[in-house]
Amino acid sequence: LFSGPIHFIKGVVRIDGLPVEPLPEVAFAGRSNVGKSSLLNALTGRKALARTSNTPGRTRELNYFRVGDLLYIVDMPGYGYAKAPKSQVKGWNELIYAYLRGRPQLKRVFLLIDARHGIKNTDKDVLALMDEAAVSYQVVLTKIDKISAGQLKRVQSETAAYLAKHPAAHPDIIATSAQKRLGIDDLRAAIVELIAA
Ligand code: GTP
Ligand code: MG
Repeated sequence: LFSGPIHFIKGVVRIDGLPVEPLPEVAFAGRSNVGKSSLLNALTGRKALARTSNTPGRTRELNYFRVGDLLYIVDMPGYGYAKAPKSQVKGWNELIYAYLRGRPQLKRVFLLIDARHGIKNTDKDVLALMDEAAVSYQVVLTKIDKISAGQLKRVQSETAAYLAKHPAAHPDIIATSAQKRLGIDDLRAAIVELIAA
């Protein structure tokens, strides 16, 4: 799937700008700086398909990438970035909420959680929204290279306990490091399974 051509299609800033081709899609969501763009690059094996940055809040649009003729991958703007202007945050949140609610071809949202921090309050808001909108989602822990094996075990079990109360959540948690290329095959397998379904 990921050995073929992958193209950037467009950056969507308004809900009426979403692509109309009826391809299945998966989205990467998460707080600013959690590592969405980095993970997308690792997943596709492209060095700089999606822009990455040390400056939180860098991704401002729903960035659409097309994988062959099979799939769209959407790199979402990060939420929960405290220093962004209030008006901008409101705009992003409205776009994200409208997108999550009204996108039937969205097969799954991969909700990225920094393995060092676990699920934060802003994540809980998004999680509740996806429950309400009946969007299927799965948690992906990021940056596991930054924690010990013991810390990873703890955050995995805490996260699993939280997700157990959320029916729309996939029970499997994928642990990844874009930097060390850990868990990338698990993520690929999850996506391949979704398209095959
Ligand atoms: P926004 O688009 O601004 O919301 O950020 P993002 O979620 O796309 O994060 P991005 O991929 O830009 O990464 C943010 C920072 O985290 C960058 O400095 C990355 O180099 C770093 N980073 C991302 N993934 C990893 C990882 O697996 N390990 C480590 N150690 N650092 C990572
Ligand atoms: Mg990004």
